[in-house]
Amino acid sequence: MNKVEPVVVIHGGAWAIPENISDASRNGVKLAARKAYEILKHGGSALDAVEAAVVILEDEPVFDAGKGSCLNAAGLIEMDASIMDGTSLKAGAVAAVANISNPICLARMVMEQTDHCLLVGEGANMFANECNVPSVDPSSLVTEACLEEWQTFEKYKSAVDSLFNNQITSLPLGHDTVGAVAMDANGRIAAATSTGGITGKRVGRVGDSPLIGSGTYAIDEIGGVSCTGHGESIIKICLAKHIICLMESGMKAQEAVEQSLQLMNSRVKGAGGAICISASGEPAFHFTTERMAWAIAKADVLSWGLDPKESNVEKMA
Ligand code: GLY
Repeated sequence: MNKVEPVVVIHGGAWAIPENISDASRNGVKLAARKAYEILKHGGSALDAVEAAVVILEDEPVFDAGKGSCLNAAGLIEMDASIMDGTSLKAGAVAAVANISNPICLARMVMEQTDHCLLVGEGANMFANECNVPSVDPSSLVTEACLEEWQTFEKYKSAVDSLFNNQITSLPLGHDTVGAVAMDANGRIAAATSTGGITGKRVGRVGDSPLIGSGTYAIDEIGGVSCTGHGESIIKICLAKHIICLMESGMKAQEAVEQSLQLMNSRVKGAGGAICISASGEPAFHFTTERMAWAIAKADVLSWGLDPKESNVEKMA
């Protein structure tokens, strides 16, 4: 197989990211992109790259995944994650899991060690025990910011309106989802997404992030996608697969991402963002929220940003 130029695209969630965490959000996605790119440059797989990137984002409390996950209506953490291998179309996901630090690693174990694609709640935690995944005290994943957000938002609806529909933007609180898409030197594509969901969500509510075709999709012949934003809207549009279908019909990655998010906005009034890599290695991203932390690593150049018109570039050593 001919070697190709590795590519990584990262997102740290699409929402009205307040100024006080904007630099931490930029730094988090840059760090994740650098890590994933380093893996790819050393001949690692796209799957290893996206998993490692998402672990970094889950461990960074500024993002709504792993440590820093939003709290549900009962004040508890329930996390969702998925990963997909664009070569085999194998996929693994977990939903409504607690007590573990890195749901993306458990999602990969579901993909590689079971005959299933998705394990939820108690069953997912039982599987984690079987795999000797260390159990953590859920309180160790709760941050002051999440607690404050939970107390402020109280009702799920007001959280959605504030975070995604730009209706209460004066509240400097909120979160949303992390993700990574990578193409390795063999042209293999993988995508991964992880989230704590939306503050005040019902107990047992599952969003788009662990649903293959909604939050995540990868197929080597067309591309890979990871989504962020209002989960119920993303599910209704099957956003990740919708983007892939537009690309399959011949549309460029950037246009496919933009057109799909516009459809989500006009058809179900949902806001969000998505990152993508096409089969030809073309990276793309777009968001319809105020901000989205993103980073791209390609050809030894790292680019990143947060605001709609922001784009910073630096050469990687
Ligand atoms: N996009 C994450 C969620 O709605 O759960």
